[in-house]
Amino acid sequence: MARDFGLFIGEMLRHPGEVVAIAPSSEAVARRMTEGLEHVRGPVVEIGPGTGSFTRAILARGVAPEKLTLLETNARFCETLRQRFPGVRVLNRPAQDITAIGLSDIGAVISGVPVLARPTIQRAVVGRAFEVMAQDGFFVQVTYSHKAPIAPEMQRELGLCAEKRGTVWANLPPARVFVFRRMQH
Ligand SMILES: C[S@@+](CC[C@H](N)C(=O)[O-])C[C@H]1O[C@@H](n2cnc3c(N)ncnc32)[C@H](O)[C@@H]1O
Repeated sequence: MARDFGLFIGEMLRHPGEVVAIAPSSEAVARRMTEGLEHVRGPVVEIGPGTGSFTRAILARGVAPEKLTLLETNARFCETLRQRFPGVRVLNRPAQDITAIGLSDIGAVISGVPVLARPTIQRAVVGRAFEVMAQDGFFVQVTYSHKAPIAPEMQRELGLCAEKRGTVWANLPPARVFVFRRMQH
């Protein structure tokens, strides 16, 4: 959507350290990010939704709006998300607050938050998400890198394993989708 592109670029220029992308993710990425949500029973949380590319796809997978919570730090994006997705809980709070929003047994977290190469944010975002995740819950992360957005040592520290779901070339730039789950003992 052209309107999304304008809003996104505007906020990227105002807050480059927060938005960290040149355009909203494509529909192809959104489809890949949301695979498997049809089978999720618990609540779903999306972190860093921006203008809502993934949100639209999450709802299209059949997740009921009242089961979905969005955590977004940018107030303008939150306003747009509230108008666009009635019934969805939109919180103008960081993903790091996921343990403080009254949810447990979360079925899946869908993440557009840039976590690459920042160990502190990885612990606070991914590690904390698993504190309130259902046993079989999963965390899906988009990245532009070839490598998993969380280094193997950090995966071990957090007790997680990573699976690369795939590369989506129909995106600017091409995107990779990774899924994190609890390591099985
Ligand atoms: C790369 S954009 C992705 C937007 C959207 N998911 C997409 O793919 O088009 C990153 C988004 O994460 C938000 N963000 C950055 N840090 C965040 C945090 N700690 N918690 C929640 N949202 C955050 C930014 O405001 C921005 O909307």
